[in-house]
Amino acid sequence: MKNINIGLLGLGTIGTGVAEVLLSKAGKLTGQIGIPLTLQRILVRDANKQRSIELEPHILTNHAEDVINDPEVNIIIEVIGGEHPALEYIKQAIRNGKHVVTANKEVIAKHGYELLSLARKHDVGLRYEASVGGGIPLISPFQQDLAANDISAIYAILNGTTNYILTQMSQEGLDFASALKRAQELGYAEANPTNDIEGIDAAYKLAILSGLAFHTNVNPGNIYREGISRLQANDFRYAKEFGYAIKLLAIAKRDSEAIELRAHPVFIPENSQLAKVDDVYNAIQVEGNLTGKLIFYGQGAGALPTSSAIMADVLAIARNIYHGRSNASKIELEQKLKIKPMADLKIHYYFRLTVIDRPGVLSKISTVLGNNSIGISSVIQKESNSKSQTAVLVIMTHIAEEKAVQRALQEIKGLKVVKEVSNFIRVEE
Ligand code: NAP
Ligand code: HSE
Repeated sequence: MKNINIGLLGLGTIGTGVAEVLLSKAGKLTGQIGIPLTLQRILVRDANKQRSIELEPHILTNHAEDVINDPEVNIIIEVIGGEHPALEYIKQAIRNGKHVVTANKEVIAKHGYELLSLARKHDVGLRYEASVGGGIPLISPFQQDLAANDISAIYAILNGTTNYILTQMSQEGLDFASALKRAQELGYAEANPTNDIEGIDAAYKLAILSGLAFHTNVNPGNIYREGISRLQANDFRYAKEFGYAIKLLAIAKRDSEAIELRAHPVFIPENSQLAKVDDVYNAIQVEGNLTGKLIFYGQGAGALPTSSAIMADVLAIARNIYHGRSNASKIELEQKLKIKPMADLKIHYYFRLTVIDRPGVLSKISTVLGNNSIGISSVIQKESNSKSQTAVLVIMTHIAEEKAVQRALQEIKGLKVVKEVSNFIRVEE
């Protein structure tokens, strides 16, 4: 074997980063493996599009089979994104005996088990380090370095775009739309930003990490999720007054019987380490019985950090090819664990209500909360509006049960003195 040939599917933000690394670091990469890595073919949607990277014209194609069926290609890197046709291309590549490296969290979260089984059957490697946490090594540490631990919890900021937006809203007072636009310009957001802002991307990543942590096959559809689009500037101000920051956290916890899986905005103490993770940075706090608490921190999106993770996988596969070792990995997702219903969650809550500004309103609301066994830990009245005769009421609760809170919110909405339940956010102490 004189060289190892790469077929690249996609030449967008990440594909361009990977191509640049392959071309500009060719000497270093050859030194790491023993033989050169050659960028053989690249699949794009539009072969005539202006590209920011200089490439031999014949290298680009808009026919997937030119890459996937090329007998000379050894490793396919999939950075098209989305479920289809990426899934079909990955399957075809595996069936053709090619090793696959992907950054595609949607495909891995939804079909990882099936694809890993297929890869094992065809004795090829399927690696996905870049699918979670951008440049932060996570998949490999979960598979290897933490293997002797019983992991009890993961608390993680897994989406760079939303963390960037929340930081801009909190620190710069930017509105949601301007912060999102900036994140898109910086190449952090998914092609469809709904996946970022509605917590879908974070849920995919949590499915992958919790699957590895708890050795089970987690269906991302079973993860409770909420996005960040209903957060407003005043939520950040009130959070600060109570000593909290607002983050979109992905949370997985395990007890002896079941796992809790959720991705949604939360108040977290402003002096906690996760509260200090800003901009596009991700942080993943893992609790293992041997390691205790660990935090992985770094850039969770962007071309170069993500290319670093992709290249780590490519190099691992290429070394095995060169040394004649198998790349097929063991599948350890066999355990069956129940998922805890969200209704059983017990946690503190923040409510922001818009109410009629007159005496007796608070007692009506506290009666509803009391009837549902929800204790108030503090309450403040804000932003009285003399014209509309309304005020904003901010309530923090003691630990309460989610199903009781949902019931109470419905009852509060029905009170004549309440104009609107403007927001409610869970509080992680
Ligand atoms: P992107 O900028 O939208 O690039 C997608 C590329 O795939 C483009 O080159 C596009 O071709 C090509 N493509 C899309 N659909 C195609 C199709 N049906 N047939 C052929 N080519 C197709 O996406 P990206 O941001 O690089 O993300 C790629 C993957 O990396 C996704 O799975 C994403 O979740 C993951 N990821 C992204 C980041 C990040 O920071 N952006 C970080 C970690 C992981 P044209 O260029 O011709 O349009
Ligand atoms: N859109 C994703 C994010 C890219 O913002 O985190 C990295 O997976």
